Amino acid sequence: MSALTDSGAWRALQEQARAEAGLTLNERFAADPERAQRFSLDAVDLFLDYSKQRVGSRTLDLLFALAEQQDLAGWIGRMFSGEAINHTEHRAVGHVALRAPRGSEIKMAGVNVVPAVYEVLDRMTVFADAVRGGTWRGATGMAITDIVNIGIGGSDFGPRMVWDALSDASIKPRVHFVANVDGAQLSTVLYRLKPERTLFIVTSKTFTTQETMANARSARDWLTQTLGETAVDKHFVAVSTNGAEVAKFGISPDHMFEFWDWVGGRYSLWSSVGLANLVALGPQTFRAMLDGAHAMDEHFRRAPLKVNMPVLLGLLAVWNTNFLGAASQVVSPYAQRLRRFVGWLQQLEMESNGKGVDREGRTLDYATTLVLWGDIGTNSQHAFFQMLHQGAALHPVDFILPVKPLHSLPEQQPLLIANCLSQSAALMRGKTAAQVRAELIARGMPEGELDAAVPHRVFTGDRPSSTILLPQLDAWHLGALCALYEHRTFVMSVLWNINAFDQWGVELGKQLAQQVSAAQGPEPDANAVAALDASTLQLLERTRGV
Ligand code: F6P
Repeated sequence: MSALTDSGAWRALQEQARAEAGLTLNERFAADPERAQRFSLDAVDLFLDYSKQRVGSRTLDLLFALAEQQDLAGWIGRMFSGEAINHTEHRAVGHVALRAPRGSEIKMAGVNVVPAVYEVLDRMTVFADAVRGGTWRGATGMAITDIVNIGIGGSDFGPRMVWDALSDASIKPRVHFVANVDGAQLSTVLYRLKPERTLFIVTSKTFTTQETMANARSARDWLTQTLGETAVDKHFVAVSTNGAEVAKFGISPDHMFEFWDWVGGRYSLWSSVGLANLVALGPQTFRAMLDGAHAMDEHFRRAPLKVNMPVLLGLLAVWNTNFLGAASQVVSPYAQRLRRFVGWLQQLEMESNGKGVDREGRTLDYATTLVLWGDIGTNSQHAFFQMLHQGAALHPVDFILPVKPLHSLPEQQPLLIANCLSQSAALMRGKTAAQVRAELIARGMPEGELDAAVPHRVFTGDRPSSTILLPQLDAWHLGALCALYEHRTFVMSVLWNINAFDQWGVELGKQLAQQVSAAQGPEPDANAVAALDASTLQLLERTRGV
């Protein structure tokens, strides 16, 4: 048994889960007319209603006791003071510095990094103005109409999600994203573009990621076939921490926008990784997003734990995961523009907290992050909500709803809102056999058919969810929302005593991809072939010669 699962705070929560196992959400609401207000929180212009979670005051007190036991306040302080809390990579964790106001101070390893952040932001802004204003021109003198961001993982999910959330058809230049090493993606994007008017941003923290470099080389070939080698200078810029590799690729240091090893890939959309968005959406919009995130940072850093939104979300996730036995975490944004939000959040959450050992390297005897999945409403109501309502397992849901629309179609927003609110109500309330029976009788079902029909139409209810309201989906509120989930992820990691900022789990696959690559081709490396297992070898033989 680990120190955590053997601790008083953990055992008290297990006991509490047992004690309240039979108490339903409907009963909780019936017993407490103030419940909706008592279990809600306004912060940073967002509203969180967690009254449909299976918690009461006692459970929350015990969760806060667990947070205290795990020194959550101390860990928050350590992150903001730039301690090397990513201890397996000996790195501080500084994404909060990327959205700090100009002139403020955030130290990483003793050095105030805010001036360096602004130096790069200012360069990005000058560059953006040049591209937007048409003074940055391609090799043949034409202005840029299209930007292609080439990157994968954190160098793709965040920027792509932001572009989808904040762009509209009028925005110029257009941004396209290429991540997959499957050439189907790059070739589809290039098919629509003119080399003379296209700018490539190669975005890679390491500038060694196999997929990104393959896409970047193919894009360069496409460009130079038409415009010649010298065109690279005006059509390629880089976002990276690795100046040497950028230079090797042939991109001038003047066209490289730096970020730093204290910015994790999945926490990097606020850095120069967001360059395509800063150019296309404009520096003001990008700034508004940073400001919204900063407001959430300040709330997270300073608000007492009991009224701290990321803390509450993290504690609820731990409660559902470790004490209620939830099978997964569903996130359902009721906003078409947030169609990429879950993808971004999946990397954030599962690359951060999908860990099997604690900070000291001991195998865990408790679950860490659950599978996080979901999709936008209302589409998902017609896909997997059946399972959420009547499936055997428990899947807590986070509903996210921007209240005011940015379009002017009067009929539709009330419908979207009604659907969102009714899904969480239905999950909670359910429908008893008696209610079903009465409904069927009222509809005229013959008595003899009732017994067979009723069980299929029963909803057990008591399925937990939270709802987060944003006034609207502008850049500021998007920034606050993303920072909310970043900090929630960190809170969970602290409670689980794991490192949320390394990602060793992706390394083995990367290593083996190099090995399998060496075993391919007309002259395969004999050692690489010998190192493969029989199954992989068989598959390799069947895929040779493409
Ligand atoms: O998937 C592993 C990972 O290291 C992510 O953390 C990162 O976001 C992604 O690869 C891309 O890495 P890079 O930006 O160095 O190309």
